[in-house]
Amino acid sequence: EQQQADYRARIKALLKARDAVLIAHYYTDPEIQALAEATGGFVGDSLEMAKFGKQHPAKTLIVAGVRFMGETAKILSPEKRVLMPTLKAECSLDLGCPADEFAAFCDAHPEHTVVVYANTSVAVKARADWIVTSSIAVELIEYLDGLGKPIIWAPDRHLGAYIANKTGADMLRWQAACIVHDEFKAKALKQLKAQYPDAAVLVHPESPAAVIEMADAVGSTSQLIKAAQSLPQQRLIVATDRGIFYKMQQACPDKVMVEAPTGGDGATCRSCAHCPWMAMNGLVAITSALEEGEGHEILVEEALRQKALIPLNRMLEFAA
Ligand code: 13P
Ligand code: SF4
Repeated sequence: EQQQADYRARIKALLKARDAVLIAHYYTDPEIQALAEATGGFVGDSLEMAKFGKQHPAKTLIVAGVRFMGETAKILSPEKRVLMPTLKAECSLDLGCPADEFAAFCDAHPEHTVVVYANTSVAVKARADWIVTSSIAVELIEYLDGLGKPIIWAPDRHLGAYIANKTGADMLRWQAACIVHDEFKAKALKQLKAQYPDAAVLVHPESPAAVIEMADAVGSTSQLIKAAQSLPQQRLIVATDRGIFYKMQQACPDKVMVEAPTGGDGATCRSCAHCPWMAMNGLVAITSALEEGEGHEILVEEALRQKALIPLNRMLEFAA
């Protein structure tokens, strides 16, 4: 722990020296979220991270999350240097929607409005009419459905099914999945609920439909934390990455939180409620990013950035 304290002190000094601010997602490890809080940085969901980075005066943003979050920060703030602890922090939704295949799909359906989740590459965003995060997906699709045009939705299949179910919108849906949320098991959740009948179930909408069906609250990471506070139940079963417990417990210190099961149907989980890419954001990696810069910097080709900025700004205006 002395070593960890040394790293924290080093990072604090480097943040000052580089005029940098640390922006972390709720799924990073608790020590990283605590460091962001302790250094005047920020912890939030993907939409809030984007907004914070854009309005903050620091010259350098260090984004502890996965690559699409760093890219979003760069698209919105091209004048800032955007560093990531590692450029290898991927997302299975981004990987599951290659830009060339997606462009061909869109070309085959030119009459559709193209809506993509923020968990995508810059090239996929550049092909979209709208970008959304889970915190505003239902509202945006409701609005677009009201305009009467058919919609292409990509890439998350569970979130797509959830939105289609909620809004009744006519959507052609891409079929990628998040390797973390895809692992939550409805049958095992039923058993756990039987064990704790008084518990509320909180679910991120990247989870399978059968899990969402059992939820008392469905929403983005920030929305789930708010629900944890406002629901009357003292015990909460939570179907999202376990990184969220750090801020959720801070928001409701008296409540008891239980991880939703990722196994239990005889299946073994691959990621067990923690994103392997989020887990790459450690103290050592943050120190290297701040010390070396090179090899950690997010660079986005300008023509592509300008294209992706249009749907991203639409999202921010819609969310405002
Ligand atoms: P949020 O938009 O809820 O932060 O989700 C991002 C993400 O990667 C979920 O797995
Ligand atoms: Fe992507 Fe899932 Fe990891 Fe979020 S938790 S970054 S959606 S793989």
